[in-house]
Amino acid sequence: MHKELRAIDEYVQSELGYETSGHDYTHIKRVVRLSERLLEGEQADEELVLVAAYLHDVSDDKVTTDPAKKRQAMKDKLTELGYSDEFTTKVFEIIDNMSFSANLQGKHHLSIEGQIVQDADRLDAIGAIGIARTFYFGGHFGEIMYDPRIMPRQEMDKSEYRKRNTVVNHFYEKLLKLKDQMNTETAKKIAANRQQVMLAFLDEFYDEWNGKK
Ligand code: ADP
Ligand code: NI
Repeated sequence: MHKELRAIDEYVQSELGYETSGHDYTHIKRVVRLSERLLEGEQADEELVLVAAYLHDVSDDKVTTDPAKKRQAMKDKLTELGYSDEFTTKVFEIIDNMSFSANLQGKHHLSIEGQIVQDADRLDAIGAIGIARTFYFGGHFGEIMYDPRIMPRQEMDKSEYRKRNTVVNHFYEKLLKLKDQMNTETAKKIAANRQQVMLAFLDEFYDEWNGKK
């Protein structure tokens, strides 16, 4: 890792190291690793992918009460490390447009670099890790685990999406939909396997819930 990236790694570690809703430094590292894997199958600017992967959650409203301040701090960091304004603008274009919540009402166009980071972030939301993070997030924000009387919601804007529901419903409102929204071929393949893991988990969950197994 070159020295600018190492500095960004350390910066993100200090920003998100103690985050406890599933968006901590270990999530970032998994997204970076998955981005590297997806990069192997694409023609893209590796530096841009990695910097955006590292910074994508620092100013998210789930992890900070002051996104504007965090954005400015990230800009200052990138300038201090010698990145151009043009590069920084591209990083923010990705961060601002890649999230699930930002794409609930109409899909943003993303650069290939943005598509890679979006896929990597979404892969970390599904499969075994996705299941674990979702229950962790639900506990952190006081969601109930499951209530068969509460149905998953269909169309939602961002504020509706952020209202509490049940953890199990989150699978139907978001997680199971991600497989068909992957951009790159590599991510589509990884997602197909992770989808099976989630479906098998839900089957088992309902069987145990109903005392059938
Ligand atoms: P994005 O940052 O792309 O908008 P989300 O805010 O939907 O993504 O959330 C990232 C991860 O946080 C999800 O994949 C999931 O694990 C967890 N999460 C978000 N909302 C909920 C929820 N209502 N219940 C349980 N987990 C959630
Ligand atoms: Ni993320």
